Amino acid sequence: MRLIFLGPPGAGKGTIAVKVKEAYQIPHISTGDLFREAIANQTPLGKKVKAILDSGELVPDEVTVEMVKERLSRPDVKGGYILDGFPRTTGQADALKAFASVDKVLNFVLSEEKIVERLSGRRIAKKSGRVYHIQYNPPAKEGICDESGEPLIQRPDDKPEAIKNRLRVYAKQTAPLIDYYQKEGSLVDIDASPSPEEVFELVRKALSKLS
Ligand code: AP5
Ligand code: ZN
Repeated sequence: MRLIFLGPPGAGKGTIAVKVKEAYQIPHISTGDLFREAIANQTPLGKKVKAILDSGELVPDEVTVEMVKERLSRPDVKGGYILDGFPRTTGQADALKAFASVDKVLNFVLSEEKIVERLSGRRIAKKSGRVYHIQYNPPAKEGICDESGEPLIQRPDDKPEAIKNRLRVYAKQTAPLIDYYQKEGSLVDIDASPSPEEVFELVRKALSKLS
């Protein structure tokens, strides 16, 4: 099963991708996670993209496409994959066609009010990669990761100014992909507003028509 998770920042793409990965045993490929990993490891790529991620702008298409192409050349993607946060521009979508195919595009739909609420309350654990929300998915002990015991932090792009910019960037550069994939007949809307368990159920129903 080859899937694209499309949707605005904070819609819950990463949260649901973790569940789909476990249930369907396919790798979760998040371009945002790959960039953050490169930044944490201070690689040349990480150094190049840090300021871009912090501000909420998009990394140039050539850089992003090259990274995804390399990731999709590995053997673990044979049984399928989840592309979370890629493509994000029509240029990326056109480029993807040359080296991979896609069965379904899940478009996570959420109001701007909820997006801001989810992003501003998000906290992450860098080492374990776990994602929390101060209200909707809090850790057992405030500010501490349940799994690794490390302190939770806020993503730099979850600060109010960066959130505003990400929403602008999404509307201008990524939202056109809804129309793009609708025309191809591969798009299905997912209501991202209920609990993660309920959203996952909607995703399962949408995917059951595939396999
Ligand atoms: P990326 O990491 O992809 O960020 P994003 O698209 O803005 O998406 P988020 O990760 O913010 O949100 P999400 O939908 O995964 O939500 P989550 O599950 O965490 O990209 C970061 C940056 O990298 C970009 O700005 C850009 O610079 C660069 N980049 C990445 N891809 C690129 C590309 N293709 N091209 C160019 N540049 C690229 O959930 C959010 C919060 O809500 C969490 O706290 C969670 O616990 C909570 N939550 C989740 N679901 C629910 C629910 N159902 N109910 C209540 N709370 C929930
Ligand atoms: Zn994410």
